[in-house]
Amino acid sequence: MWPDRRLIELFKTEFPIVLAPMAGVMDAELVIAAAQGGALGSLPCAMLSPEKTREQVSIIRQRVSAPVNMNFFCHKPVDADPKRETQWKQRLAPFYREYGLDPDAPVPFANRAPFDAAMCELVEKIKPEVVSFHFGLPDQALLKRVKAAGCVVISSATVVKEAIWLEENGADVIIAQGAEAGGHRGMFLTESIAEQPGTFALVPQVVDAVKVPVIAAGGIADGRGIAAAFALGAAGVQIGTAYLRCPESKIIAPARVALAQASDESTVITNVMTGRPARGVANRTMREVGPISSDAPHFPHAATAIGPLKAAAEKLGRVDFTNLWAGQAVRMGREMPAAELTRALAGSALARLQALGH
Ligand SMILES: Cc1cc2nc3c(=O)[nH]c(=O)nc-3n(C[C@H](O)[C@H](O)[C@H](O)COP(=O)(O)O)c2cc1C
Repeated sequence: MWPDRRLIELFKTEFPIVLAPMAGVMDAELVIAAAQGGALGSLPCAMLSPEKTREQVSIIRQRVSAPVNMNFFCHKPVDADPKRETQWKQRLAPFYREYGLDPDAPVPFANRAPFDAAMCELVEKIKPEVVSFHFGLPDQALLKRVKAAGCVVISSATVVKEAIWLEENGADVIIAQGAEAGGHRGMFLTESIAEQPGTFALVPQVVDAVKVPVIAAGGIADGRGIAAAFALGAAGVQIGTAYLRCPESKIIAPARVALAQASDESTVITNVMTGRPARGVANRTMREVGPISSDAPHFPHAATAIGPLKAAAEKLGRVDFTNLWAGQAVRMGREMPAAELTRALAGSALARLQALGH
């Protein structure tokens, strides 16, 4: 028995486990597989058009009757600053030359749009059981419409004050995202990566500060981590990195190799790939330009000039310019179908909880 059943009852899933949304490396296939295993599957929509989003959700709805979580970014958009873009291109120019690319050729903008009226209309039509946001919450008018569509609203906090803000502004559940987590920090009231607590310290402090259920995220990759999250007062877990090597993820082959070879010392927090701090396996860009650089344009514009380099390197089977987002528990990821992995995670967590005398 799970020591806390609030999320199982709220989400109507078999297990209190959420497959993390992971923009750029997964689609409906991983959502379906995790849902078939008993988790809440999350579809990352931040890099999709409304049409593509609709298509992906319809694939999920055709294949499983399980609840679904649609995930969006809600950063405050900042226009690209041409001066800064030029400086950034100059910083990257040696790599452009190495790959025989013209640094002056126009490049399409990196596409990570915040949640807007068009996506909100889609949510109202689809009525997903859950909607999750990264980087805070959308403005109150949009949020009201999401809630009126009957969706449970969740969002990530990286420090206690963000958790309190999320609860006061309408989140039904809060994800406490510790520093170990792969991908972008969900931070929105602070910019200081040095101060982000680890999962072990953050979860109980968030649990003490809010009344809504708390989901632990960051560095959780097996039954021990899940049991620890419950011991810290979490009502569930959100797991990303541990699912990356599942055959249903859309990680390209050389990135799969990099993840398989990664250890506990392989990841860093960097801002050079997109302009916002995120944790990933260190690649050449992170090592030679960052991991943190004050030259990086604001999110998501840093990714624009990286785009041609990423494409050229990937053609040669290299991930020197690819976001290898992954958390500190990357070595614990298993190459296993996602439904099977979900059941294994739940089974080992329950066994561990029982052994601890729950
Ligand atoms: C490859 C990757 C991509 C991610 N993309 C998103 C995203 O699109 N939206 C989001 O809310 N969180 C995203 N995250 C963060 C996850 O929601 C979650 O906080 C994190 O995976 C938990 O830590 P773990 O990776 O150690 O399990 C991403 C994480 C990874 C590893």
